[in-house]
Amino acid sequence: MTKSRDNGLKAPRPDGHWWRQAAVYQIYPRSFADDDGDGLGDLAGITARVPYLASLGVDAVWLSPFYPSALADGGYDVADYRDVDPKLGTLADFDVMIRALHAAGIRLIVDIVPNHSSDLHVWFQEALASEPGSPARERYIFREGKGEGGAEPPSDWVSNFGGSAWTRVGDGQWYLHLFAREQPDFNWSNPGIREDFLTTLRFWSDRGVDGFRVDVAHSLVKDLSEPFRPSVDRAHDQPLPVDGSDPLYDRDAVHAIFESWREVLNEYDPPRSAVAEAWVPRPRRLLYARPTELGQAFNFDLLLAEWHPESFHRIIADNLTDARQSGASSTWVLSNHDVVRHATRYALPPEVDRNEWLLGGGTDPIEDRETGLRRARAATLLMLALPGSAYLYQGEELGLFEVADLDAAVLQDPTWERTGHEQKGRDGCRVPLPWTRDGSSFGFGSDGAHLPQPAWFAGLSVEAQDGEEGSTLEFYRRALHLRERLQGAEELEWISERDHSLLHFRRPGGWNSVTNFGDHRVQLPAGAVVVSSGPLEGRMLPPDTTAWVVD
Ligand code: GLC
Repeated sequence: MTKSRDNGLKAPRPDGHWWRQAAVYQIYPRSFADDDGDGLGDLAGITARVPYLASLGVDAVWLSPFYPSALADGGYDVADYRDVDPKLGTLADFDVMIRALHAAGIRLIVDIVPNHSSDLHVWFQEALASEPGSPARERYIFREGKGEGGAEPPSDWVSNFGGSAWTRVGDGQWYLHLFAREQPDFNWSNPGIREDFLTTLRFWSDRGVDGFRVDVAHSLVKDLSEPFRPSVDRAHDQPLPVDGSDPLYDRDAVHAIFESWREVLNEYDPPRSAVAEAWVPRPRRLLYARPTELGQAFNFDLLLAEWHPESFHRIIADNLTDARQSGASSTWVLSNHDVVRHATRYALPPEVDRNEWLLGGGTDPIEDRETGLRRARAATLLMLALPGSAYLYQGEELGLFEVADLDAAVLQDPTWERTGHEQKGRDGCRVPLPWTRDGSSFGFGSDGAHLPQPAWFAGLSVEAQDGEEGSTLEFYRRALHLRERLQGAEELEWISERDHSLLHFRRPGGWNSVTNFGDHRVQLPAGAVVVSSGPLEGRMLPPDTTAWVVD
């Protein structure tokens, strides 16, 4: 007998398509819950919070990297792909965690970081200790420099975190790193690298992992023929070309790698799922999501969109068309560990440069938090009604805002140093969660938190919102539990409204989602309102509010 999720004991259904319309909750482990009191979140902390995740009603958890790491990039610098960082626990703790998640009916997706390792990875250490041209160096991308004595980098490619993408080693050669210097890029032309990642996929799949999130999936294959050709300057937000001309990103040959991954993922029953993180424009994104490859690719369009019914409409329609064409299911994201939280994005005028704003400590302009949270909740409810998977980021269910006033001295994101302090980076969305109103680190752990939490976290803590009618936490719980009824056909019908500030669509089963993007209240369609993102005024839907109406 399948037990219901409410008693926290429902085992995952053996359903190979569970991921197609899943609500996936991203945990950034170092900032979720700290069991051993060292200020850093850990796996035992996650296990202890499984009842919380079950009561939230999510289908799966996506765990950002928890592997051994020197934390040069928050764990995305992996020193060993098949182990747990001792700061976060052990493989035995991992097994306990996954058992607890599964017992609560929650699946587990882990992050896999194939573009680069940590410079502390045994292979990079071996490469450094070996001769230029040796097989050990061939696992990475080493080249001679240019100019007199090879003193200049081999090309003008820039790191995504700022500065040159090349670093020189003792014997004069340079190695490529598209991110921090502690993250040397692998050479994916090397069969040993290809094979080793298949081993890693099997290692975690054998341990019961249900799926993988593939970090910077579009960068593994590079055109390293010389002379090196220019690449887009991603550090300065230049749009990616869609013509395959960039030597570093989104090259056609990358797809053969993911086809080989799919073969491994399909060795399991049910097949393991995968989702590509590929910041590439729409028409190319669907290639990564083909059923012969990863199955899904993150769609960051809503995350990048302004609060406007036409943009939301166009983005949703386009992405659903893509999904139909590729056989993938669509994905939706409003927040993650790399971007300013959506409650803050919507609290700022669209013309505000968010980096400048962060550099100023979040004071110019002052956030309009009331509007920000109202819109964030409305956007979330709209997103949760869409066909496809919704990826949620820890803390958004509490309505957390970006912590914009972190002092320079505490910043950890390599972006801050690498840009010569021109970009503050992503720490403001990675501050440890507040579980209680007070106490050390608001219940995150027993001895402080690795990034300082602001006083206003108290009022947004789990304790402050638990059981509170109208709180953001209770709103998420209600919406996520109701969403389970929306698992039918991946279809959506647009209902045209005379009032263009409304976005209204219908899912099978008479399920309507109506969002008011305008500045005046609007009459709701007939039917029972099952949840709304904010208070209604009778049958009137106020501005910046979404309601689900079942007719
Ligand atoms: C991805 C991750 C990001 C990380 C980068 C390098 O974009 O989401 O956090 O810094 O890859 O691994």
